[in-house]
Amino acid sequence: MNNKRIIAPSFLASDFLHLQQEVELVNNSAAEWLHLDVMDGRFVPNISFGIPVIEHIRKATNKVCDVHLMIVEPEKYIEAFRIAGADRISLHIEASPNLHRSIQVIHSLGMQAGVAVNPHTPIDSLQDIIADIDYVNLMSVNPGFGGQSFIPHTLTKIKQLRKIIDENKLNVLIEIDGGVTQQNAKEIFDAGANVLVAGSSVFRAANPKEAIENLLKA
Ligand code: DX5
Ligand code: ZN
Repeated sequence: MNNKRIIAPSFLASDFLHLQQEVELVNNSAAEWLHLDVMDGRFVPNISFGIPVIEHIRKATNKVCDVHLMIVEPEKYIEAFRIAGADRISLHIEASPNLHRSIQVIHSLGMQAGVAVNPHTPIDSLQDIIADIDYVNLMSVNPGFGGQSFIPHTLTKIKQLRKIIDENKLNVLIEIDGGVTQQNAKEIFDAGANVLVAGSSVFRAANPKEAIENLLKA
């Protein structure tokens, strides 16, 4: 089992008027990744931020920029997000009829590739792509909004996925996205997750730096 633990603060919950301070806060924390949620109002019922904002965030950090594309036809924008500064991109299985090709494109541009799966999408649907990717972004809420509650069934899915990854000795990280808090972080890590995305529980905390450390040692 890969015991690696990473915290990825989600900037969807950050203060957009003070983005520089928010990035600096994460730069000076134990978080290894910045999680950047891109929404198009079509794949999900919300619109967030896109390429120009990520370009600016990139200039302000040396940490890993983990871009989560919640958009239709994500393959059209892979290169643009690379140029903007993405180090890793996850795109949704539900939005990708040619997923394998998109993964190849992400790799050919020198990035790590992830597949994001919605709460209703079974782990089985990853069977023929899992060996070709670097991480699974397992959604623990319905994508589109921050501040939602963790869907408990995700824990069963994490265990299923962990079993497949370990049995096949794959080098794939499990990222959990949505509703991660100080209260459920331990259970999520114990189920076999590696990366916790945390928006509200980091940026809305009285002390975000401490919140990141507490998540890490949950
Ligand atoms: C939801 C996004 C998440 C979100 C998490 O569509 O993919 O990354 O920002 O926010 P919290 O941690 O507040 O649930
Ligand atoms: Zn996300």
